[in-house]
Amino acid sequence: MSGSLLAWYDRYARVMPWRVGPADRAAGIRPDPYRVWLSEVMLQQTTVAAVRDYFRRFTDRWPTVTDLAAAADAEVMAEWAGLGYYARARNLLKCARAVVADHGGVFPATREGLLALPGIGPYTAAAIAAIAHDEPATVVDGNVERVMARLHAVETPLPAAKPELVALAAGLTPADRPGDYAQAVMDLGATICTPRNPACGICPWSAPCAARARGIAAQLPRKTPK
Ligand code: ADE
Repeated sequence: MSGSLLAWYDRYARVMPWRVGPADRAAGIRPDPYRVWLSEVMLQQTTVAAVRDYFRRFTDRWPTVTDLAAAADAEVMAEWAGLGYYARARNLLKCARAVVADHGGVFPATREGLLALPGIGPYTAAAIAAIAHDEPATVVDGNVERVMARLHAVETPLPAAKPELVALAAGLTPADRPGDYAQAVMDLGATICTPRNPACGICPWSAPCAARARGIAAQLPRKTPK
């Protein structure tokens, strides 16, 4: 099943400044872990559209984690201004300095090594391991939860359904291209399998989608009332 999604991703992946395009991917070029990390931290609580320009400014000014680690706190906070959640920027610097001080300026390649760094939680560790290093780590954000709930018609409401949705996403993770798979599910959730009015007619997973078959795609995932 991941095959049809990866074929869709090869054609329709959103172009983002931290991604590697299909031709480069085919040539074995991997995304830079520093750029993946920076983008994932920025994308927490902030939209892709808002992150793009900040990402470009950060990477123009600090092209490597070693450059960022050497920056003055006030400079980084000033570049971050407008992105909000300023604890993220403080953790960003702490993490950059730990990568330089403890890892010679090279991000650890495993989920476990990444988790030990300041400010890197399970989501970010899995995203970097999968996207930059093609480790078969499962990356689950709100988009992925929605796609899995619909694909498998999971009627259990969130947040109780979360472990089941994580297991379903893990079960679909292919041994080759887990990073592309993770990003493909996120792109699918952001562009086709949207919260309202999902575009099931052009979805690469419409045939196997259990919620679509039952006519309840737009109603899932269910949520426990607050
Ligand atoms: N949202 C957070 N990280 C993302 C990524 N790598 N691709 C698409 N959407 C995302």
